[in-house]
This record gives sequence, C-alpha cells and structure tokens, in this order.
Amino acid sequence: MLRGHLLVVLATCISLAAARRSPQADSTEKWLKSINTRYSDNVFEDALLDVPDLIRKYRYPVEVHSVTTEDGYILELHRIPHGRDANNVPNQKKPVVFILHGMLTSSADYVLMGPGRGLAYILAEEGFDVWMGNARGNYYSRRHVRLNPDSKLSTAFWRFSWDQIGNMDLPAAIDYALKVSGQERLHYVGHSQGTTSFFVLGSMRPEYNKKIISAHALAPVAYMAHNESPVLQFISPHATRIETLASLIGIGEFMPSNEFTASFGAKYCRDGSAIQPICSALIFVMGGRNEEQHNATMLPVIMGHAPAGISVRQLAHYGQGIAEGYFRRYDQGSRLANFREYGSFTPPPYDLSKITAPVYLHYSDNDHLAHVNDVERLYRELSRPIKRKVPMTTFSHVDFVYGINAKELVYDTVVNIIKDYEGAVLDNNV
Ligand SMILES: *[C@@H]1O[C@H](CO)[C@@H](O)[C@H](O)[C@H]1NC(C)=O
Repeated sequence: MLRGHLLVVLATCISLAAARRSPQADSTEKWLKSINTRYSDNVFEDALLDVPDLIRKYRYPVEVHSVTTEDGYILELHRIPHGRDANNVPNQKKPVVFILHGMLTSSADYVLMGPGRGLAYILAEEGFDVWMGNARGNYYSRRHVRLNPDSKLSTAFWRFSWDQIGNMDLPAAIDYALKVSGQERLHYVGHSQGTTSFFVLGSMRPEYNKKIISAHALAPVAYMAHNESPVLQFISPHATRIETLASLIGIGEFMPSNEFTASFGAKYCRDGSAIQPICSALIFVMGGRNEEQHNATMLPVIMGHAPAGISVRQLAHYGQGIAEGYFRRYDQGSRLANFREYGSFTPPPYDLSKITAPVYLHYSDNDHLAHVNDVERLYRELSRPIKRKVPMTTFSHVDFVYGINAKELVYDTVVNIIKDYEGAVLDNNV
C-alpha cells in the first residue's frame, strides 16, 4: 500500500517536472546524464525498482532467466551480459563471473550502489559476462513446482538451509549459466552466506571444482566458533528448538521482503531525517559497525532491497555452527532424525579438503561474522586457499557490499586476479 502511494507521488513529481519543459529536451538531457552515471542518481526511485528495472534504468543490458533445481525450486538469475561504457559489444562470448549474495539479501547487493560502485557493473565494464544468483526462498526465488511458500498448512517449502542452497541451487545455476554462455568453466564470487554455500558445493559435489577457474570468498563464513554477531549469538543456544517450534506453529520464513521496511527506509532513513542514525544502527547490528565506510545517503536503497527473506532454518543452521563449533550439515534435532537423514547419529561434517578449486579468502580484521581466527581455520583446511586481507582494519562484514571504498579495497583486487587467470587461460597455462 505505502509503496503504491510512494509510486503515485513519484510519478506525479516526474510528470510535473516534465510538464515544464519540452519532453524532447528533457529526454535528451536525461539520456546525456545517464551515459556516465556513477552512484545512485535518485535514491527514492532506486529503492522501489526491482533488480532488472534498476539495471535497465542505468542503461545496462539485463536478462532474466529462471532455472529449476532438482528438488523443484524455481530460481531467478539476473545476467548483465556486457558493459555500457566499455566492452559493450552484444552477443560476444565473454568469460563468466557468477555472483551469489549473502543471508537476507539478493542480487540487488551487486547493483544497488549504482554504476561504478556495484560489483556487477564493474565486472561488466571490465569485459565479463555477469550472472547473479538468487538463493531459494528470497524475493526473486520464492517459487516451487509443487510447494507453496505461503501455505498455512505446511512449512514444507521452507525446510532447507544453506546446505541445499550449496548442494542444489548452485549446481543448477552454474550449469545453466555455463550452458547459455557456451563456457565450460567460470569464476565464482560469493559474499558471506554466498561463501558458505560455495564451501558446501565444493565439498559435497566435488565434481563441480573443475568448473571453477577461481573462487572469491568475500567475508568467508564456514567455522563460526569466534562469531560475534549479536543476532546469531542470541539464537545459537536454542537454534534447533527455535526452528522446530517455529515450524510447529507454521512459520518457516524469516524477514521476508516487505513494503514496511521499504517505505520506512524511504521516509525515515533519508538524509535530513532525525531517525537516520537509528537506521544506521540497525545496519551496524546486522552487519558490523564501521562509520568510515557507511554511506547513510544510500539507506533508502538498501532498505528497499533488504531484507529479502530466508528460511528460519538458514539462521538455525548458523546458530548450530556457533554453539557446536563444527562446520557440518544441519542437525535434525535428535539422533534418530539425524540417522534417518544422514545414516549417522550426528550430522556429517563438510570435508573442506575436497574443495580443490583455488579459493581466495578476502577477509578483514573487523568482521564480527567472519572472525579472523575462524578464517584461519578455514584456510588451514581448504586444498588451495589464498589469503587476501583487506588493507583497512575497520572494514566490516557489510562493507564488502555497501562500503564506500569496496571497489578500491576489494573489487579491484578480485578483478585483477580474475584477469590474471583469463590471461593464463588464453596462454594455455592453466
Ligand atoms: C553516497 O551516496 C550518494 C548517492 O549515491 C552519492 O552521491 C555520494 O557520493 C556517496 N558518498 C560517498 C562518500 O561515496
């Protein structure tokens, strides 16, 4: 409702502005302006557009694809096949980079900061064919061939964690992107849960390692013994019970995309609002505090796109990781239930040594969700890990996607490494 009202107000403003000038002059000026647009040129507009429309608004090419997983989830993929200002030749075979978002977010994370800042735009300009996944259950992938996410009778749709995102969503999405692009291998970039899912993929479906040229784990999350997230700390001692209880009373979904946060964000988190610091505090609680890298002007856009929805079990699975100190499959809650699911009384651990693709760990000192000690343990257990610590001690978990200098501090490094591999691939050195 509120989003609808806001749209009406917006449309009225646009038509009022347009009425004062000849439409032709206006559209020429708009076009000229959009050619080199950097950042967001209108945070209220960008808060309301979905990802494909947001990409179109900035005159980048976009394709929407859907792929069905082996267990029936219908996932939406967003593709930026080429650049706008550079490398803008359509229908040209380009190296593929696949990106997967973190918990509670979506493909929006890689475009919402705007051209010149969002990772997807940067990669497209650098000559890559960019594919962005959306994990099952989020705003773009809330569909299934048979199960209903809104069913009042059953939470069957929501009976998954990042285990299934890694061992079913990723194979389907990666194979699809490779087929359409005509490539055999790709580069992978994940943030937070997008790294966890990658570790699940590489250990449970090791045959996928050969399809990965390089993997970039931004704020890598596997072991969580040192996790300092207040939210996860709070639920971790009761993780499995909370999930069971929620499912008993018919709740399987957590923090779905909703119009309330979107319109709240646009109204109260904008520049000039007295409440804006509370919005910033909310982002700091969820993703770590770092005033230096936080652009409060962007809050309406961030809150227009996040939260995008997860299953309660995704949260519970992380909670188990903190409480138990293992990186292993979801604990079904009892020895019997585990035995039925896995053939063992305890959940099997993910064997990180099976991940043979080169994995670049991009991590930082001030990441309370991917603590340095936990990253070190991950580093010791992977087969081909390479460490790349972010050269800013205050850099936090969300800064990898929303940080003012994410490009200079992280993305440029990722792009350079990927380009090195591509050079090597062309020279037949890999
Ligand atoms: C913050 O975001 C706004 C809107 O995109 C942009 O105009 C501004 O330059 C950004 N500030 C910094 C310091 O990057």
